[in-house]
Amino acid sequence: MVACAGGSSAWAQDGLQIAHGKKLVEANCARCHAIGPAGKSTHPDAPPFRLLHLRYPIEDLEEALAEGISTGHPDMPEFVADPQQIGAIVAYIRSLSR
Ligand code: HEC
Repeated sequence: MVACAGGSSAWAQDGLQIAHGKKLVEANCARCHAIGPAGKSTHPDAPPFRLLHLRYPIEDLEEALAEGISTGHPDMPEFVADPQQIGAIVAYIRSLSR
């Protein structure tokens, strides 16, 4: 693991991004996935977000979201996110694995 680079302003920015990402996943993902630090997913096949980092690097998620995550994700509605939204969602999911 490489230590996280960045000054204090980057951390403040990070906090805002995480808060924004949480809102986005609450609106778009929570009806199937467990999005918080605990709890079960509503959809039996949907992995809880806090466990995603065990499956693959969170960086891969960024790419998957950018390409449209519908691949291997048949029950999931197409979610079109702009890069800013993707960054926020990934920051939030990453924060769960800290
Ligand atoms: C309608 C239900 C539903 C919604 C809404 C939903 N998902 Fe999923 N998601 C699933 C299911 C079901 C799976 C498991 C698919 C499988 O393993 O075949 C899954 C799997 C995933 C995976 C793992 C994919 C993999 O290859 O392991 C990620 C990442 C993911 N979802 C992200 C999201 C994000 C981000 C959102 C919100 C933008 C979201 N999902 C919204 C149902 C949903």
